[in-house]
Amino acid sequence: MAEQIKAVRGTRDITPDEVYKWHYVESAARKVFEKFGFREIRTPIFEHTELFVKGTGEITDIVQKEMYTFEDKGGRSLTLRPEGTPPVVRSYLENNLFVDIPVNKFYYIAPMFRYERPQAGRYRQHMQLGVESIGSPSPAADAELMSMYWHFITELNIKEVKLSMNNVGCGNADCRPNYVEHLKSYAKENIDSLCDTCKDRLERNPLRMLDCKVEGCSEIFKKGPKILDHLCQECNKHLKLVKSYMERLEIPYEMNPFLVRGLDYYTRTVFEVTATGLGAQDAIAGGGRYDNLVEQLGGKPTPALGFGCGLDRLIATMEAQNTRFPDPPGIDVYLVSVGEEGVSRILEISYLLRRKGISAEIGLEDRSLRSQMKTANKLGAKYVIIIGEEEIEKGVASLKNMQDGHQETVDMQMLGSTMEDKLRISHR
Ligand code: HAM
Repeated sequence: MAEQIKAVRGTRDITPDEVYKWHYVESAARKVFEKFGFREIRTPIFEHTELFVKGTGEITDIVQKEMYTFEDKGGRSLTLRPEGTPPVVRSYLENNLFVDIPVNKFYYIAPMFRYERPQAGRYRQHMQLGVESIGSPSPAADAELMSMYWHFITELNIKEVKLSMNNVGCGNADCRPNYVEHLKSYAKENIDSLCDTCKDRLERNPLRMLDCKVEGCSEIFKKGPKILDHLCQECNKHLKLVKSYMERLEIPYEMNPFLVRGLDYYTRTVFEVTATGLGAQDAIAGGGRYDNLVEQLGGKPTPALGFGCGLDRLIATMEAQNTRFPDPPGIDVYLVSVGEEGVSRILEISYLLRRKGISAEIGLEDRSLRSQMKTANKLGAKYVIIIGEEEIEKGVASLKNMQDGHQETVDMQMLGSTMEDKLRISHR
């Protein structure tokens, strides 16, 4: 036999035995997000590389190390979407979506591609459920967004989750830039004890030092200057209001002054939701405000915010927590036959049943009635219709209820309406 080709490292298949869980989660998301006024948007899987360099940020790990970038036959540098925010902002600007309403709210369920080191819960292609709300500067929008995610995971019955929040300030001289200077001098004082990644980040991306998982480093930064003590007046006011709204909505959260997120565009509120049972890759969602990105991508200054939720991790959390998923949809009727005439009849009847909205499967392999019945059982069919030689002769079909074993004979002409009646009763 020829050698089998396997899926690419860091990617995986969602087989039919799993995919119903995805449908369940995706449809719950659509229902919740649409209740909050978000509408679906679909953007291309690849974009000009420049969009992510400008949008996601030149100094981020994503742009520096993780992008799937290639040149197309026309010599363009293209990149498989590593995250959804810059593409949505691009589309918002390109399609003038801002002209009709002041606040535009989008959601997407789409694959993202990042050349990361694969491990449990970390893939090179992951599915992300993302939302972007463009237009509102109000702290109420921040609380509304977090409450929407909270509502969504509560609907799914996900437990043991933690919502961490921070405010990373803004670009005003007396806000983040001032804090970064304090942080840098503190890091320089402790330079000999910092890991190589932190040393590297000190000049290139100092805030990310706060994210360091190396114990020695995190101990040092715990004692260092905190962004929350260096916010400007406006950012402080924003934070105070977000907190008060969260409390009013009774959404539990923790302040975490070390939460900085790996993307460049955040301003003010950032947040992350972690879940138990996932190991190291425990962030099931993350997001925040990005008030400068629209302008950076060529639009007028427009405040915005959003989050992304990794569906692979969300579903893994549900599995780890033994959340009950609804049963996968079974089939209503399995049709079995013997002989050529029998096959022709079940083909015709199944076509009729399906057009009546009944799910029907037919046994087309030339096998014994017994083994066809076994297949019907395996597929979880509610009813089996049997058309053998005797049935054909009499113009009838044998109908077996697979739940109680009851078998009866039905006039072939009446099969459609009989099945409709029976299934209406059993669907009730
Ligand atoms: P992010 O934190 O990079 O944010 O990704 C969002 C979520 O996607 C993560 O919390 C995680 O659940 C999931 N995720 C990320 N990378 C992987 C991976 N390699 N394998 C599995 N799951 C993964 C963003 O992408 C921002 N665009 C979110 C946002 C939207 N901020 C504002 N608007």
